[in-house]
Amino acid sequence: MGENLDALKAIVSKRDSRSFTAQAVDDETLRHVLQAGRMAGSAKNLQPCRFVVLTDLAHKEELASCGQFSSWIPQAPVNIAIVVPEDGRDFDAGRTAQNMLIAANALGLASCPVTMHDKEGARSVLALPDGLRVAIVLALGYPVPGTTSGMGAQRTPLDEMVHRERWSS
Ligand SMILES: Cc1cc2nc3c(=O)[nH]c(=O)nc-3n(C[C@H](O)[C@H](O)[C@H](O)COP(=O)(O)O)c2cc1C
Repeated sequence: MGENLDALKAIVSKRDSRSFTAQAVDDETLRHVLQAGRMAGSAKNLQPCRFVVLTDLAHKEELASCGQFSSWIPQAPVNIAIVVPEDGRDFDAGRTAQNMLIAANALGLASCPVTMHDKEGARSVLALPDGLRVAIVLALGYPVPGTTSGMGAQRTPLDEMVHRERWSS
């Protein structure tokens, strides 16, 4: 029971955050996040996701130049690129990413998913073999104390989201 409640809290309290302290993420904490990604289920159990972990500032800056809204990611101590085959399912990458983001939240890390709009650029920065692409990048680090995470946007009310039996009901 207690464990379930902790999981629910980690899920519903997750907000995406783009400001981080300079504190490095230790290997054990990072491993928990990667392990959470590894354990996500995938269609036909293909397990298509692979992870490229970046901590080098210059390298993170190179990756940042491949997105349109990613100039801030070098400030995150860790960037994790989730890589899938060209024809890999984004749903599988999404499950993996969300597992990692929720695990990060449970571990006290701030995080945010980031789009790489320049797909070829991101492939080149990460030296991906042919046939692989970056599905999403996760920026992670410890939150700046006193700052509220996220951009404060409200979620759509549940009643607006949920339909019973048919759309019209
Ligand atoms: C698929 C996906 C791509 C995203 N890409 C970016 C991005 O490129 N840059 C960025 O700053 N935030 C990005 N975000 C974060 C969203 O802006 C964020 O999830 C949304 O604003 C909700 O934030 P909140 O949880 O803090 O309310 C992305 C989120 C998702 C799910």
